[in-house]
This record gives sequence, C-alpha cells and structure tokens, in this order.
Amino acid sequence: MTQRIVVIEGDGIGTEVVPAAVDVLEAFDIDFEFVAAEAGDAVKAETGEALPAATYEAAANADATLFGAAGETAADVILPLRDAVDSFVNVRPAKAYPGVEALRPETDVVFLRENTEGVYSGHEDRLSDDLSTLTRVVTSSASRELAEFACEFVDDGRGPDHQDGFTVAHKANVMRETDGRFREEVLAVAEERGVDADEELMDAFATKLPLDPTQYGVVVCPNLAGDVLSDLAAGLVGGLGLLPSANIGHDNALFEPVHGTAPDIAGEGVANPTAAILSAAMLLEYLGYVAEGERVREAVERVLADGPRTGDLGGSATTDEVTAAVVDRL
Ligand code: NAI
Ligand code: MG
Repeated sequence: MTQRIVVIEGDGIGTEVVPAAVDVLEAFDIDFEFVAAEAGDAVKAETGEALPAATYEAAANADATLFGAAGETAADVILPLRDAVDSFVNVRPAKAYPGVEALRPETDVVFLRENTEGVYSGHEDRLSDDLSTLTRVVTSSASRELAEFACEFVDDGRGPDHQDGFTVAHKANVMRETDGRFREEVLAVAEERGVDADEELMDAFATKLPLDPTQYGVVVCPNLAGDVLSDLAAGLVGGLGLLPSANIGHDNALFEPVHGTAPDIAGEGVANPTAAILSAAMLLEYLGYVAEGERVREAVERVLADGPRTGDLGGSATTDEVTAAVVDRL
C-alpha cells in the first residue's frame, strides 16, 4: 500500500536539507508517494499566510510529514503543524558520533518532551501597561500519555543501552501544583507499568548532564524544559546540524531537524544534511521500516566518521556530496 509522505521544505536551508532526506528515503524500494506542500516566510510573502490551509490538511491526512524549517514565521508554522498531526510527544535524541568533535563525546540521551501544554499552551495576556501573565497548563491525561509512551519506548529497547528506565526532570518543588501533577502522574504510570523511573529537579539536571551525561538515558520532561534541556544536550554533541526530532501523534507524525533556517549559510549548498537525514530515519522507523531506519543511521555514522563532512564539522563538502556519500553507503 502506498504511504503518503508530505514534504514541507520551508525556508532557508530547509530547501537544501529536506531534498537530501528525500533522496535517502528514495534509496529504498518502499512504496512512498511524496507530496510537496508549502509553509514559512516565502509563502507568507506571496499569499499572506505562513501555513496555508492546504498544507495543514495535507499534513493532517498524511501517513507522515517531513518538515525542514521556517524563518520568522516558525512559531506560526510548527505549532499548528504539531497540532495537525495530533502530536503529544516530541522525541529528541542527542548522540555524539565518532569523528565529530563534541564537548562530551560520551553523550547519548533521548528527550521525550511533552508537546501540547505547559507554558506553550498559548494562554498569555497583557493585563496592563505593566503586567503580562501566562497560564501554565498541565493535565493528568497529557502527562500520563507521555509517560505511557516513555514506558513503551523503554520497553521496546529504543533508549540508549547504558541506562535502564527513564528520568523525569521537573521543578515540582516550586511549581507544586503543575509540575507536582506532572511528576506524580509520570511516576505513577512508571510504577503501574513496572518501569524503572528516577527523578531530577530540572535545574540540577542542567548542571549534572554536562558534567556526566552517562548518568542519563531517556529523559521525560514538560514542554519548555524539554525544549531547553535538549538544546543544551545539542551543545554537548557537536551542534545543531546533527539533531533530528520526531513529533509523534496517535495516528500521524511529523519529523524535522531541530535546527532552523540557518540564514548565515542558506543558499550556498553547504548545510549539513545529517539532522534531516536522521529525521528521515526516525520516519522510517515510525512507519515500521525499523531495519531501514537503522541502516540509514549506520550509513550516516560511517560518513560522519570517514567524511566527507560539511563546514560546520570542519570539512569543506557540500550538502549534495555528503548526501551522495550516505546514499552510496546504503
Ligand atoms: P539556526 O538553527 O537556523 O542556526 C543556528 C546556527 O547553526 C547558525 O550558525 C547556522 O548556520 C548553524 N546551523 C544550523 N543548522 C545547520 C546545518 N544543518 N548545517 C550547518 N550549520 C547549521 O537557528 P537561528 O539562527 O537561531 O534561527 C534562524 C531562523 O530559523 C530564525 O528565523 C528562526 O525563527 C528559525 N528557526 C526555525 C525553527 C523551525 O522551523 N523549527 C527552529 C529554530 C529556528
Ligand atoms: Mg528549540
């Protein structure tokens, strides 16, 4: 059966790294239909809308979506797109690879970030000239759903080998009601499912992770904490050009590099396609092509180790040369 993959390149280097990821997907004999859709600054300049209804609909009805990045309109694009695929968890692996200079080469952690609420739920108000407020939303249902996903993730052996179970990072000592609820529900689900779970206050975690990343494997966090702490981990492994992510929903998902449009290098054909290609590997795994996803990861690892490499990793290769090397390894 044909599986429909919606491809949204977006702006900047999105138009360079997403085609690279599609090249890799096309290297397999899988019956994918790729459907191009528009979103971002460029389409907003043309039509007034950063996320055309047709793109939202296409993503909502796809088997999976591959997205690059949007520029200034990023929030107007990615938040509704995560909604279009009904995503409740953002999966962000941060792994250091041999051959890539990393601050902490032993880093191998996967963040499972709550993707619908917390402080990103959009309830902000300007109450006076002096006062603005934000309502932080935490539900038991979303917390438990994230925890169920985390337990399955761990049970399926998808976490790093060096750690069992997961760590929940929170700040329930201060945000007693909201993070209190989050912590309680996540730990309760782990207990019910017989999964090992420990906890860290998220500020202490931010110190302990760079000091010794091997203490952690799978890390479960509220929305903002997951955003910030996974970027911290990105810094430990050698930069944004390497980090993929998956927004997983109940019956749909969207895959995207963690990086943005990189305006400083856009248009030069020198962006690192690794993050987008590893996002495609996550897409393959999500759709059940687990062996294929693993092969992509291995090909990427070999190319990172042996070259060619793009400028961000100290090399001088183009996006196309790196992509061709990965396809060749496959
Ligand atoms: P950025 O991730 O675009 O770039 C940060 C730095 O990392 C730049 O020096 C860039 O050259 C480098 N970099 C990023 N990806 C790279 C790659 N694949 N290969 C080589 N070098 C790479 O973040 P920045 O500069 O903060 O944001 C630029 C634009 O991207 C902004 O308009 C922002 O709104 C948007 N953005 C969009 C996101 C999305 O659509 N999901 C996420 C983050 C930023
Ligand atoms: Mg971020």
